[in-house]
Formats: sequence, C-alpha cells, structure tokens
Amino acid sequence: MVRQSTRPPGDGRLSRALGDPEFGRHFTDHMVLIDYCETGGWRDARVVPFGPLSLNPGSAVLHYGQGVFEGLKVYRHADGHLRAFRAHAHARRFASSAARLAMPELPESLFIESIRQLARADAGWVPHQRGASLYVRPFLIATEAFLGVRPSREATYGVIASPAGPYFADADNGIRLWLSRDYSRAGPGGTGEAKCGGNYAASLPALHQARANGCAQVLFTDASTRTWVEEAGNMNIFFVFADRTLVTPPLSGAILAGVTRDSVLCLARDMGYRAIERPISVEEWRAAAASGELREVFAVGTAAVITPVAGLVGEDLLIETPPPGSRSVASLMRAELSSLHHGDRHDRHEWMSDLGRADS
Ligand SMILES: Cc1ncc(COP(=O)(O)O)c(C=O)c1O
Repeated sequence: MVRQSTRPPGDGRLSRALGDPEFGRHFTDHMVLIDYCETGGWRDARVVPFGPLSLNPGSAVLHYGQGVFEGLKVYRHADGHLRAFRAHAHARRFASSAARLAMPELPESLFIESIRQLARADAGWVPHQRGASLYVRPFLIATEAFLGVRPSREATYGVIASPAGPYFADADNGIRLWLSRDYSRAGPGGTGEAKCGGNYAASLPALHQARANGCAQVLFTDASTRTWVEEAGNMNIFFVFADRTLVTPPLSGAILAGVTRDSVLCLARDMGYRAIERPISVEEWRAAAASGELREVFAVGTAAVITPVAGLVGEDLLIETPPPGSRSVASLMRAELSSLHHGDRHDRHEWMSDLGRADS
C-alpha cells in the first residue's frame, strides 16, 4: 500500500483528542483509500492525509444508499504492539454486508492490511489509557455516477479512525431503553443483518422518541408482531437468569450479527454459564423481572462494549432490572473483555490481530 504523504501530528488536535477521547469526535491524520471498478478490480491502495473526498454528485451512494461500513477497535499493548480486536470477524461481516447490497466484497487480507497501515501511520493517536482505544471505521461507497436503480460498477473503500473513550456517559448505572411501537429497524428479508447506513437513518425517529422519554436507546422488536426482542439500538442484548443462563435473541436476518455478541456467548460458556440463543418476548422480560428470575439485562457492541440496561420504558410500561453489582455478569464480562483488549489475559481464542509495533 502506497503512503502518498504524511501529515505531521502536533497541531494541538492530537493532544486535545487524547486528553478527552470522546466517541467519534476527532479524526486522525490519515485515511486509507482503495478504488474498485468492475473491469479492473481493487486498485490504487493508498494511505493519504485525512480530508474531504471528491465525489461526483451523481454517485450511486448519494441517491440509492449503496454503501456499507464496519466498526472495530485497535488497542495499544504494554509490549509496544498495536492489536485489533477480532479484525477477521469484522472483515467477514463487511464482505457479507457488501454482498447484501450488491457491492464488491473486499478480500479479507486487504481489509486487515488497510487497518494495519492506518493504525501504524496514526499510531500516535492510539490512546494509552485503559478502556480507551482507536475506533476504526472502514466503509465502502458506490461511486459510479448514473441515475437509475442497478448496482454500481465502481466503488471506493476507505478507512478512517477516531480515538475512543467511553460511549455512554454514566453507563455504569445502566441505561433505559424505549420500547418502540411505531417504528421497526428491520423486517424479514430486509437489510437488518447488513451494516448499511439506511438501517441507522431509519432508526433515528425512534431514537428521537427514546430521548424525549428519558431513554438512551431504543428497544426494537420484530416488525411483524412487535412481540420478540431484537436489538437495543445499535447493540445486541443479553438477559441473565437466576439459573446462570444467558439468553440472547437468535440471528433471524433482522439482527446484526454482533462481534461482541459472539464474543460474549463464547466467554460466557468458557466461564461456565449456559449461554443460549432463543427468542425472548417483552412479556417474558416483564414476567421474569417481576418474579425475580431475571437478574440482569445488558447490551453489547464494539462502541460501548458492555452496557447494563436499567429498564424498559414504553407508552404504558415500565420494567426495571436490578442495578448491576460488582459481581454482576455484565461487570465480569466487561472485565474479561477489557483484559483481552488490553493484552492482560492469554488470548486463547486468538482474537487479537497483531498490527506491529507502534513505533516501527
Ligand atoms: C444494529 C447493531 N447491532 C449490534 C451491534 C453490535 O455489533 P458489534 O458487537 O459487532 O459492534 C452494532 C454495532 O456494530 C449495531 O450497529
């Protein structure tokens, strides 16, 4: 991959961003770009200074929404190496999101190499403090200029990055979810399992309602019957029962197959919990919370990692879950993941991809 030019850090942005790495507010000095065209394949891979893209106003992504993205984190380890959490799983999901939107699938090796190149070019932007990381955002947009509905024959792949601190302020006390009765995030046969911008745009009015009702996120249920729990905004959701069972809704096609979700299922089994994927209804949530059988609810995702859910609020509904104690499954899970992220624990599942030394 060609590094076209470098932009020296030090204009004050870096120290401001690292001093207070809010989520997604500051961008690093560089970005990766790779072009695609149907006849020539992937070409012209380059690391360039971060800046505006030049886009033909007729580009398909602007009109028909043909675009997908990913989100993963890079950590600085004590041995001086930068490592990405489950980069291969993100690469596979990126390719399947692209396929769902009739876009070219970026080879896994190019995806990994693009992360490596950007992380090394902007190594100074990877925070040192615990819990913080460099959030990396790969994206793919359809760039062929034409009007008409058909797959674009040209695309641009890009990677940008932003130092990341905690996602929700005050997340330790748990967030409240708003039960959306008016809006669905995804339906059968739709794009719910793809990471495409349209899913997020369509979820925004529901988020607006959630905020108006004092909730941080939306609980989406199935579009057909509004009975079954699907996702907590841009996170997957877990329920912990008194018999040491963890339940998360199955991947129905409407739910994003979260990498954190998969990691939690795996770690929970390692830790001796029964971790299962099965449908769970809002009514079961209400009844189990009332009987005391339900011990915890938490949401999971790359950005926020593990976030306890304090309650579910609806038009005529309030379900509260007990506040998570220090021995809660949510905090055990968060500690376990954090140890892996920061390289304090043996990485027995080989989830951390070594991107090389930060100073090389
Ligand atoms: C809709 C949605 N669900 C779940 C997740 C969690 O997925 P992951 O753990 O891979 O970040 C995300 C975030 O990517 C998301 O946008």
